[in-house]
Amino acid sequence: MSAIKHVAIIMDGNGRWAKQRLRPRIWGHVRGSSVVSDIVQAADDNGIKSLTLYAFSTENWNRPKDEVFSLFKLLKKFLQKEKNRIIANNISFKVIGEIQNLPQETISMIKEVEELTSRATGLNLTFAFGYGGRAEIIQAFNAFALKYPGQTLKESQLNQYFYRPEIGDVDLMIRTGGEKRISNFLLWQMAYAELYFTDTKWPDFTPKEFKNILQEVSKRERRFGNINQDSDV
Ligand code: IPE
Ligand code: IPE
Ligand code: MG
Repeated sequence: MSAIKHVAIIMDGNGRWAKQRLRPRIWGHVRGSSVVSDIVQAADDNGIKSLTLYAFSTENWNRPKDEVFSLFKLLKKFLQKEKNRIIANNISFKVIGEIQNLPQETISMIKEVEELTSRATGLNLTFAFGYGGRAEIIQAFNAFALKYPGQTLKESQLNQYFYRPEIGDVDLMIRTGGEKRISNFLLWQMAYAELYFTDTKWPDFTPKEFKNILQEVSKRERRFGNINQDSDV
């Protein structure tokens, strides 16, 4: 069994993938969304407990309207197409982020799949949509302050106010598309995550590369500030 329990992926590079092929950016998103189910399956096959996929950030609202709208449509289509498979595979699906400004039909589809899978005990599949790490921390803090006015918050308490507490800390964060930054993804939860950056653009990302990354990262020594007391040096 893998010691890597929670994998978070920044699915980046769709636009450049399309541009290289002289196609509109939206084509890149269409192709990108078609690889998601294979990666979900691969996470399950490799013994991962939680998979969190960054699909739309708070900052992505600044993109042109037609691109933003097509991302909402793709999310709805993805859920329509994958709903039965998600249920059959005992996957627990949830969206983290602020989705109230999405089209009503997309919100309804999200809610439907969340409810249908709320008792599932398999893979925790989370889509970060309308998500920002800073926004999540602030809303968690405000929820605490409302509940316990005038009290100070302990480090160990914050997680329970996040959008989806059960996923907890990230063990491995993978970013496709070549950029080496975390772009306001799970800031708090990534404090001790292993980071892996690949030049592969998201539409070209495969279960095979995913598996290779998991194997490579499993060999890294995670010390969490401690020292390896078995080593000679
Ligand atoms: C990632 O691909 C998907 C989203 C951010 C929605 P991009 O659209 O950022 O693709 P690049 O980085 O421009 O290639
Ligand atoms: C990060 O990608 C967000 C998602 C993949 C959803 P961006 O393409 O938005 O990130 P930046 O702008 O290059 O940092
Ligand atoms: Mg990008």
